[in-house]
Amino acid sequence: MMDDAMRGEFLSRSADETREFARRFAIGLKPGDVVCLIGTLGAGKTEFMRGITETFGCVAQLSSPTFSLMNIYEGEMRGRPVELHHFDLYRLESEKELDGAGFDDYLSGSFLSVVEWGERFPSLAWRYTRRVELLITGDEQRKIVIS
Ligand SMILES: Nc1ncnc2c1ncn2[C@@H]1O[C@H](COP(=O)(O)OP(=O)(O)O)[C@@H](O)[C@H]1O
Ligand SMILES: [Mg+2]
Repeated sequence: MMDDAMRGEFLSRSADETREFARRFAIGLKPGDVVCLIGTLGAGKTEFMRGITETFGCVAQLSSPTFSLMNIYEGEMRGRPVELHHFDLYRLESEKELDGAGFDDYLSGSFLSVVEWGERFPSLAWRYTRRVELLITGDEQRKIVIS
C-alpha cells in the first residue's frame, strides 16, 4: 500500500483519517529518522503524531511535565524497543534556547523524532529526514504533503 517512498499529496477528510494516514506513513520510518511536522495551529500536527505513536504501540509516556518542549514515548519497532521523541517548539523563541535545551542529544540517536514547529529554526533544517505539511482546506479537510 504505502512504503518507504511514500511521498506526494493526500487529502484527509477527518482527524481519524489523518491518524490512519499517519499510521501508514510511520510504517516506513526507521530509527534515526527525524520528521518535521509543518502547519498552522489546528492543522493536525498533533493528530498526525498520535497516529505515529499508534504504529509503534506507544503506551507509556515517559515524561509529561506541564510545560514541556519534548515528551518521550516508549514503543516498539519491528519487535525491538524504540524511543519516540516528540518535540513541540511552539513556545521556543530563539535558536539560542535550542542549544541551551541540549536538543542535539535528543535528535541524533537510534530513536525516532517528530518535531512540531521545527521549520521555524533554520539551524535544524538539515536534521529532518522527512517533512510532512498539513494545510487546512476545509472544516475537517486537510491537504497532507509529504516530502
Ligand atoms: N482532517 C483533519 N485532520 C486532522 N485534524 C482535524 C481534521 N479535521 C478536523 N481536525 C481537528 O483539528 C484539530 C487539530 O488539532 P492538532 O492536531 O492539535 O493541531 P496542531 O498540532 O497542528 O496545532 C483537532 O481538534 C482535530 O479534531
Ligand atoms: Mg500541536
